Amino acid sequence: MNIAIVGATGNVGRKTLEVLEKKELPFDNLYLVASSKSEGQKIIFKGKDHEVLNLENFDFSKVKIAFFAAGKKISEKFAEKAAKHCLVIDNSSFFRMDPDVPLIVPQVNSSHLDQIKKNIIANPNCSTAQLVIACKPLHDLFVIKRIVVSTYQSVSGGGKAPMDELIEQTKLVLDGKNVKSKNFTKQIAFNAIPHIDVFADDGYTKEELKMSKETKKNFR
Ligand SMILES: NC(=O)c1ccc[n+]([C@@H]2O[C@H](COP(=O)([O-])OP(=O)(O)OC[C@H]3O[C@@H](n4cnc5c(N)ncnc54)[C@H](OP(=O)(O)O)[C@@H]3O)[C@@H](O)[C@H]2O)c1
Repeated sequence: MNIAIVGATGNVGRKTLEVLEKKELPFDNLYLVASSKSEGQKIIFKGKDHEVLNLENFDFSKVKIAFFAAGKKISEKFAEKAAKHCLVIDNSSFFRMDPDVPLIVPQVNSSHLDQIKKNIIANPNCSTAQLVIACKPLHDLFVIKRIVVSTYQSVSGGGKAPMDELIEQTKLVLDGKNVKSKNFTKQIAFNAIPHIDVFADDGYTKEELKMSKETKKNFR
């Protein structure tokens, strides 16, 4: 069995590699895939160099499972094409509410795996995944009607670019210089911003809406 990780150079991709290394899951070849920018870069996995391949010309018929962790636009463009050849496990938000794609947290609803229709499995938002694991046993016992949630999320949740911005801004602030924000609405160094993702028409942010909708789908 061969595996591909699309977005292997990013935060989720690198974490997936770490888990694959720690859990010692059995597979033959590992293909690390990212954008043309990273093509040819070397990533060490289990002491061996792996060259990063360009998604644009990657052949998914070589693998049995492809983890997608390159954002929703990439999943929109490539996941269904890949799913013609292999099982896609998608970390982005693109397929989460698709009725033909199960939204799986293994500890909670692996029984939904029998609903795979497009050869794609979606994962919930990271806050949702933690929430449903804690709440599912209570839901099974009492049937939860309402959950009030506050999350305190790290900059890493936004990906590699916001993390780089935090490092840059921290240096500038410590040097007494002015900062400019690129990935956030305000300075993020030495700060906490009560706002994630864009606002929808009803005043909630998309991050808040994701949590609410995905929890319901996961508990269904
Ligand atoms: N961070 C989290 O805690 C978290 C948790 C759960 C789910 N997610 C979701 O997982 C996905 C990835 O998040 P992340 O935090 O890992 O983002 P990230 O650190 O910004 O990494 C993005 C990855 O996508 C690749 N990529 C970007 N454009 C590409 C293209 N045109 N073709 C091929 N590859 C491309 C990047 O490759 P290059 O390096 O070559 O640009 C990089 O490997 C997002 O959908 C996110 O919402 C994130």
